[in-house]
Amino acid sequence: MKNKNVPIGVFDSGVGGLTVVREIMEQLPGEAILYFGDTARVPYGNKSEETVVRYSSQIIKFLLSKGAKTIVIACNTASAVALEKMKKEFEVPIIGVVEPGAKAAAKVTRNGRIGVIGTEATIRSGIYNEFLQKTNPHVTVYGKACPLFVPLAEEGWVEEDEITEQVARRYLAELSEQDIDTLVLGCTHYPLLRSVIQKVVGDKVQLVNPAVETARELKYLLEERRLLNECEKAGETYAVAGGTLLPQHEFFVSDRAEKFKQFAASILPSAILRPESVGVEKFE
Ligand code: DGL
Repeated sequence: MKNKNVPIGVFDSGVGGLTVVREIMEQLPGEAILYFGDTARVPYGNKSEETVVRYSSQIIKFLLSKGAKTIVIACNTASAVALEKMKKEFEVPIIGVVEPGAKAAAKVTRNGRIGVIGTEATIRSGIYNEFLQKTNPHVTVYGKACPLFVPLAEEGWVEEDEITEQVARRYLAELSEQDIDTLVLGCTHYPLLRSVIQKVVGDKVQLVNPAVETARELKYLLEERRLLNECEKAGETYAVAGGTLLPQHEFFVSDRAEKFKQFAASILPSAILRPESVGVEKFE
């Protein structure tokens, strides 16, 4: 049986998965996070299923080699195309962000008309539609890929930005015409554009961030498997409190750790960010 004081492994194609980490830290402050951002191979959203599956498998092997007790696939694209295969390949509990996001949206909608925005791969997979229909067969789902949102978020053009707003208007016009009352932010970067997206779709549309529900499901999963860390707060560095070694957050990337740190500091407190570069290709 796994030691419950070891970290939770979380990964994404890059920095966007930190929006999920932020939620996990909020809801599970005693858990240490072991994060991997695949900054050398981002974006996943325009890659084939086969490639994303291979990358996901390498990363999970890396996270397990560092002692992770459970895995959160914080990337919507990898959750959409690789989660089921990863669950078959590894014994450790693994959750993605799509199912929790779909469940949250199905709860929120009043008129049953739900929009989903994400990368090309996520929208093409039709997986949000599948989970939404499973939760409530009466909903109608409208998907739209918004690939330019990722570089805009990484550029920091997030709040009150004219260009981002124009791009959002162009992408979201057809969803608005469908009278949706709920919109799933089905990509890790999109919560960073939340205020622009909300402005464009209007206040009557409820935005759903799958990260919130994912952190909640992670908590249930850890409780159920008796893997919840009893520590009150994970440490920012290895430290001993009351004779116990506090777990520590650790961040790894596959390229450009400094650039990652700069962007990451807009999502998490910079004091905890000391990213290291590692290659994961050897974990075949
Ligand atoms: N992390 C990806 C997702 O949530 C967005 C960036 C990418 O395309 O890799 O789908």
